[in-house]
Amino acid sequence: MSPLICFATLLSSMAWGVNRLNKEEEKGRFLTCSITEQHKQDLSNQQLTRIPPDLSPSTQYLDLSHNNITRVNDKDLAALPDLCILKLHHNPLEYISPTAFLNNSKLEVLNISYSSLKAIPDLLIPTLQVLDVSSNLYGSYVLGSSFKNMEHLFSLALGSPYATSINYTDFAAVRNIPLRHLSLGYGEGLQSYESGSFTQILSLRKLTLIMPFCERFLMFQDMLKDLQRTQVESLELVKFLPRYCNISSDPFEGLRDLRSLKNITFTDTWFNSSVLHTFLQNVYRSPFQVIALLNITFNEDIEEFYLDCDPGKHAVNLKAIIFDGILHYQMRYPKIRINVTCYSQMTNLKFSGSGMNISPCNLMSSLPSLEVLDVSNNLLTDNGFWWQGCSYTKVFPALKQLNLSMNRFIKLSFISQKTQQMRSLETLDLSSNSIELEGQCSWPSHLTNLILSNNNLGNSVFNYLSPHFRSLDLSKTGISALTKDMLTRLPNLTHLFLSSNSLQVLPADLWAPSVKVLHVDHNAISVISQDSLKGLPGLKELKAGHEPFSCKCDSYWFVTTLDKRLLPDWPSQYTCSYPPELYGMLLEEYQPGRITCELWIQAAIAVLVTLVVVLVLSLTFYACDGAWYLKMLWVWIRVKRRSSQETERLANASFHYHAFISYSQHDSNWVEKQLAPNMEKAGFRLCIHERDFVPGDWIIDNIINCVESSYKTLFVLSQSFIQSEWCNYELFFAQHRALSIQQDSLVFILLEPIPADSLPRKFMKLRTLLRQQTYLEWPKEERKQQVFWASLKRMLQEGNKHMVMKQAAVGIADLMIL
Ligand SMILES: *[C@@H]1O[C@H](CO)[C@@H](O)[C@H](O)[C@H]1NC(C)=O
Ligand SMILES: *[C@@H]1O[C@H](CO)[C@@H](O)[C@H](O)[C@H]1NC(C)=O
Ligand SMILES: *[C@@H]1O[C@H](CO)[C@@H](O)[C@H](O)[C@H]1NC(C)=O
Ligand SMILES: *[C@@H]1O[C@H](CO)[C@@H](O)[C@H](O)[C@H]1NC(C)=O
Ligand SMILES: *[C@@H]1O[C@H](CO)[C@@H](O)[C@H](O)[C@H]1NC(C)=O
Ligand SMILES: *[C@@H]1O[C@H](CO)[C@@H](O)[C@H](O)[C@H]1NC(C)=O
Ligand SMILES: *[C@@H]1O[C@H](CO)[C@@H](O)[C@H](O)[C@H]1NC(C)=O
Ligand SMILES: *[C@@H]1O[C@H](CO)[C@@H](O)[C@H](O)[C@H]1NC(C)=O
Ligand SMILES: *[C@@H]1O[C@H](CO)[C@@H](O)[C@H](O)[C@H]1NC(C)=O
Ligand SMILES: *[C@@H]1O[C@H](CO)[C@@H](O)[C@H](O)[C@H]1NC(C)=O
Ligand SMILES: *[C@@H]1O[C@H](CO)[C@@H](O)[C@H](O)[C@H]1NC(C)=O
Repeated sequence: MSPLICFATLLSSMAWGVNRLNKEEEKGRFLTCSITEQHKQDLSNQQLTRIPPDLSPSTQYLDLSHNNITRVNDKDLAALPDLCILKLHHNPLEYISPTAFLNNSKLEVLNISYSSLKAIPDLLIPTLQVLDVSSNLYGSYVLGSSFKNMEHLFSLALGSPYATSINYTDFAAVRNIPLRHLSLGYGEGLQSYESGSFTQILSLRKLTLIMPFCERFLMFQDMLKDLQRTQVESLELVKFLPRYCNISSDPFEGLRDLRSLKNITFTDTWFNSSVLHTFLQNVYRSPFQVIALLNITFNEDIEEFYLDCDPGKHAVNLKAIIFDGILHYQMRYPKIRINVTCYSQMTNLKFSGSGMNISPCNLMSSLPSLEVLDVSNNLLTDNGFWWQGCSYTKVFPALKQLNLSMNRFIKLSFISQKTQQMRSLETLDLSSNSIELEGQCSWPSHLTNLILSNNNLGNSVFNYLSPHFRSLDLSKTGISALTKDMLTRLPNLTHLFLSSNSLQVLPADLWAPSVKVLHVDHNAISVISQDSLKGLPGLKELKAGHEPFSCKCDSYWFVTTLDKRLLPDWPSQYTCSYPPELYGMLLEEYQPGRITCELWIQAAIAVLVTLVVVLVLSLTFYACDGAWYLKMLWVWIRVKRRSSQETERLANASFHYHAFISYSQHDSNWVEKQLAPNMEKAGFRLCIHERDFVPGDWIIDNIINCVESSYKTLFVLSQSFIQSEWCNYELFFAQHRALSIQQDSLVFILLEPIPADSLPRKFMKLRTLLRQQTYLEWPKEERKQQVFWASLKRMLQEGNKHMVMKQAAVGIADLMIL
C-alpha cells in the first residue's frame, strides 16, 4: 500500500470521526424521551429500604432519592420498560447488579451520586446519556469495560474522597465514546495525575475539576498540557484555591496555550488580589471569551492594582466577565484601575451579589461595546448607580439591556429620565426594588421592555408607562384589576406578565390584538371566559395556572373547547377550588356534560322530549280510543255536577219506572237483547212500549203514562229512529218549550254516529239537543261497553227516588190534545 493512500484513509477516518461526534453532540443535547406528568413518580424521602415492586409499568421518571435503599437487584426495575430518568442519589447504595437495567431500554439519565458504592459500577445501559456517580466511596477512577458500549454517554460525573490518583488507563474505556462533559473530584486534593490521562477523552468539550490545587500547580500544568490535545472549550474549577496557600509561581501559566478554551469559571474559591491580578494578566494573552467568578472570597493582600494591556501586541478576545457572589474579605471597596481600552470587545458585564452601593460609573459606562450590564442583587440606590461624581454625557453608548433588579431603587420618574441618556437601551429590569410612583415618567421610545415585577405599585402603575412598550412585566405588583382602558394605552404590547397579582376577572371587553403572550397565573381568577379571550385574537401563549378555578359550567368552554396548546402549564397547574367537593381535582379531570352546560342544547332537548311525550300520548290515546273515554268522562262530570240540583228537584217525587225507553222498531233487537237485560239485572225498572204499554190504550196515552211514571226518558237514537219516530217528538218539543227546561230528564243513546249537522233541517230541536246535551254512544268493543253500562246506570241512578215530570207530562198531554 502506498503511503499516500494510507494518509488519505487516515484523513477520511478522522473526518468520519468528527462527523459522528457532531451528530452525537446534537443528540446528546436533548433527551429523546418526552416525559408526561402522569408518568412521573416521586418516591423520594419515603424511608424505603428497597425499590418498590408495584411500580406502574408506564413509569418514565422515577425519583427514589433520599431513601435507605442499599441494593439494586436484577429484577427490581425489569418491569419498567419505559423508564427514562432514574434518580437514586442520597441512598446508601452498596451494590448494583450489572444486569439490573437490561430491560430498561430507554434509560437515559441515571443519578447514583451521594451513595456508598465501593467501585464505579459496570452498567449495561447502552442508551445512557447522563451518568452521575459522584460522591461515592470508590478508591479509583477506573472505568469498567461496560463504558465502551455507552455510545450515547455525553455527561459523566465522578468523585470520591478515596480516589486520590488519576492513572493513564482509568479512562481508556471512554476513549471512543462521545463524552462531552466530565466532572471530576470530591473537593479534596488529588495526590497524583498520570500524564496523558485526559488525552484519552478525545471528544471532551467541558471539564469540571472539583479539587484544590494548592501546592500542586505542577500537576495542574500537566493537566492543562493534556487538555491541549483535546478540544475542551469550557473549564470549570471548583474550590481551586483554599484560604491559605503559598503561591510563588504563576499557577495560570498553562491556560494561555489552551487555544480551544473559551470559557473559564472559578467557583467557591479564595482569591487574593495579587492572585486575581496574575490571572487577569494571563487573560489578555489567552483566547478566553468568558470568565466567570462565582461565589468567590476576595482578599486584598495588595491594596491597589492596575490592569493594563498592550492591544497592539495581544488580541483581547474577552466578551464577558461575570462576577456573581463576591465576599469582600476586608468589607471595603477594592481599588482596581483598569484601562478600558483593553476591554473594548466586551459586550457583557455582570457584577452581582457583591454588596456594591456605588457603581464605578466612569469605568463601566465608557465600555464602548457593552450591550448587557447586570448589576442585580447589590445595594445600589438611584443616586448610587447614577453617582453625582460621574459625567453622563456619552454613557453606555451600546447598552441594550440593563439589569437593576434586587437593589434599592425608588423613583421611577428619575430612572425614566436617566434612561433617556442611554441611546440604545431596550430592556430595563427594575424588579425587586422599592419603586414608588410619583412625578411624571418620560420613557425614551427605544425602551420597549420594562420589568417592574415584585414592587409595590398597584393599579395606578398604568399611568406611568410608555406607549412604546412591547413587553411589560408587572408580576407581583399589587394589581387588583385589569381594564380595557389600561391596555388601549399600550398599543404595541406583545408580552404582558401579570402573574402573582390579585386579579379576579379578565374583563369581557378586553381588546388588545397585539398581545401574543399573557401570563395571569397565581391570581384569583376563577373563570376564564370565551369573551375575554375574544379580545386577544393574537394570543399564542396563556399561562393561567394556580388559580382558584370554578369547576362548574362557567369553565365548560375553557376545559372543553380552548386549544390547550396555548397553555404551557396545562394540565398540572390547573386545579378546581370550587365547588368544595371537587377541591384539588385537576381541571382536566372535570368533564362537565355538554348537555348540563349548554343552554341551547337543554332547550332543544326539552322541546324534543315534549314532542315525543305528546306523540306517545297521542298514539296511546288514539290506539285506546282516548276520545271516547274522554267523552264518557265528560258525561260523568256533568252528571255529577247536576246531581245536586237533581236531588232537590226530585225530593218527594216518586216514579214507577226509572226510564221510559223510546226506540225505533228497527232497534228493538238491541233493546231487548242488550239494554233491557243489562239494566233490569241491575235493578232498574224500564218502561218498554212493546212490553209495558197497556193493550187497547191509544199509543200517545201510553207514552204519556210511561213518561209520567218514569224518572227519565231514554231515546235510543239511530237513523231509523229519527226517520220513523222522532218527528213525533220534534213537534212535541217545538210546541212545548216548557219541556226543554227539563232537558235533564232526557237521555240519548246513539247506536250509530249521528253528527248533529247531518240531521235534516226540520229536526231543529234534535240538533240543538245533541249539541247541548251529553249523550252516550254505543261502542262496538266489549271492553268499552262496560263503561257504557256503568255510565248509563249512573245517569239513571241520579236521585232515582221519585219525581213526576209534571211539565213533561203536561207538555206531552198538550201535544196529544192538539
Ligand atoms: C436504614 O436501614 C438500616 C437497615 O437496613 C437501618 O439500620 C437504618 O437505621 C435505616 N436508616 C434510616 C435513616 O432509616
Ligand atoms: C421486559 O420488558 C418487556 C416489554 O418491553 C416485558 O414484556 C417483559 O415482561 C419485561 N421483563 C420483565 C422480567 O418484566
Ligand atoms: C444528581 O443529584 C445531585 C443531588 O441532587 C445533584 O446535585 C446533581 O446535579 C445530579 N446530577 C445530575 C447529572 O443531574
Ligand atoms: C495509580 O497511580 C498511583 C500512583 O502512581 C498508584 O499508586 C496506583 O496503584 C495506580 N492505580 C492503578 C489502578 O493503576
Ligand atoms: C492570601 O494572602 C494571605 C496573606 O495576605 C495568605 O496568608 C494566604 O495564604 C493567601 N491565600 C491565597 C489563596 O492566596
Ligand atoms: C506556606 O509557607 C510557609 C513558610 O514557607 C509555611 O510555614 C506554611 O506552612 C505554608 N503554608 C501552606 C498552606 O503550605
Ligand atoms: C461560555 O459561557 C457563556 C456565558 O456564560 C455561555 O453562554 C456559553 O454557552 C459557554 N460556552 C461553553 C462552551 O460552555
Ligand atoms: C459559596 O462559598 C462558600 C465558601 O467557599 C460555600 O460554603 C458555599 O457553599 C458556596 N455557595 C454556593 C452557592 O456555591
Ligand atoms: C490604555 O491603553 C491604551 C492602549 O494601550 C493606551 O493608549 C492608553 O494610554 C491607556 N490609557 C491609560 C489611562 O493608561
Ligand atoms: C436580572 O437579574 C435577576 C437576578 O439575577 C435575574 O433573575 C433576571 O432574570 C435578570 N433580568 C434579565 C432581563 O436578564
Ligand atoms: C408601534 O409599532 C409600529 C410598528 O413597529 C411603529 O411604527 C409604531 O411607531 C409603534 N408605536 C409606538 C407608540 O411605539
